[in-house]
Amino acid sequence: MIVNEATRRLLITAGPTYEPIDAVRFIGNRSSGRLGTSLAEHAAALGWEVSLLLGPNAIEPTNPQITLERFQSTSDLENLLQTHLPESDVLIMAAAVADYRPAPEEVNLEGKRRREGGNLSIRLESTPDLLAGCSKIARDDQLLVGFALEPKDRMISSALSKLARKNIDLIVANALETMDSDSIEATLIGNTERGVEHESSTSGTITKTEFAKWLLTQLEPLTDQRKSINA
Ligand code: CTP
Repeated sequence: MIVNEATRRLLITAGPTYEPIDAVRFIGNRSSGRLGTSLAEHAAALGWEVSLLLGPNAIEPTNPQITLERFQSTSDLENLLQTHLPESDVLIMAAAVADYRPAPEEVNLEGKRRREGGNLSIRLESTPDLLAGCSKIARDDQLLVGFALEPKDRMISSALSKLARKNIDLIVANALETMDSDSIEATLIGNTERGVEHESSTSGTITKTEFAKWLLTQLEPLTDQRKSINA
């Protein structure tokens, strides 16, 4: 691909994180990574330069133009974000990042925990908020987009508080009720504190493929506006 200054560069994360307990066990979640991968595919088809950071799952993107890197844990993803964020115009965090992981003294990557009888408690530590961390190091010409999967009755209020807490530019609020479904109903909200005046919603519930097209259409002008800051 010929890359020129007008080419939009997308860094996108998708899928679950697996936080190891020992050589064979982990704490994970049910994210399929389909939504983020579909966004990556559509962006690449539109001529964006796309780097996809994908968690452990069976999905393989089909577009050969997509640069693919795999992660397992939150810590792997944190390292990949630090490496790739500087080369991007937009970051979309669609990955379902763990909020807690086994504390280091609980983890044995070489062996397997034996059954000891009785109950077992494993101490968990908080993971860093990766989006908030990206916001601290991002340049003024970059756009940071997060997702907020929330119960419908408090979808917008929770999304707004995440937007402020993580200090990012935009958040996609989508209803928890559509998790694991092929369809989605979402609202994209800009952070006015960061100069992004934007609010738009999908027209009702749409397929995840339609959603990918819809979101990229919303993000294109906002990305170009940001990119022009340092042009
Ligand atoms: N996220 C992140 N780092 C984390 C957790 C979440 O970067 N440790 C990102 C997700 O990729 C998503 C956004 O933050 O884009 C919101 O994730 P969510 O799990 O809904 O929010 P949390 O910050 O974990 O808040 P809570 O668990 O209270 O809902």
